[in-house]
Amino acid sequence: MAILPILEVPDPRLKTVSEPVTVFDDDLKTLIADMFETMYDAPGIGLAAIQVGVPERILVIDLQEPVEHDHEHGEHCDHEHDVVRDPKVFINPEILDPSEDLNVYSEGCLSVPEQYADVERPATITARWQDETGKKYEEQVDGLLATCLQHEMDHLEGILFIDHLSRLKRQMVLKKLAKQRKEAA
Ligand code: NI
Repeated sequence: MAILPILEVPDPRLKTVSEPVTVFDDDLKTLIADMFETMYDAPGIGLAAIQVGVPERILVIDLQEPVEHDHEHGEHCDHEHDVVRDPKVFINPEILDPSEDLNVYSEGCLSVPEQYADVERPATITARWQDETGKKYEEQVDGLLATCLQHEMDHLEGILFIDHLSRLKRQMVLKKLAKQRKEAA
């Protein structure tokens, strides 16, 4: 496995429309393993193949939600909460029927590092996708997974979350990113 370099704005490759996957072979499995390792290392909760320079319709997602555990009423909780890994692969994903009701999440993106902004998206979608063996799935998805999946699917069309913002807001985010890069240099 390998940690791959992540493309960042304004890399023009991020605007690529990715191609469908037609061959489900060992190279695909290796790429997926590398994408997970890259995402966990970053760390992030989702990554599209184009973000590591591969223009194919492949996404990896792991929401890494904290382990549920009970506390006595009023008990102070200051320990690190463990997370359960829940790796999900989406190949050739499609959205069938986005709901009219919308959810707003403060989104971020490994290609727009450390910048966040509210984006509105359908709250519930039906998603259809394949896994790394080519097996097909169809499932209704909501909550953070619905948002994350739509954010990652945008990458396959060359769209970033900042493209959903007003021009003014987008410029503000890019300005903050430029400033942050300058300070880090
Ligand atoms: Ni992203």
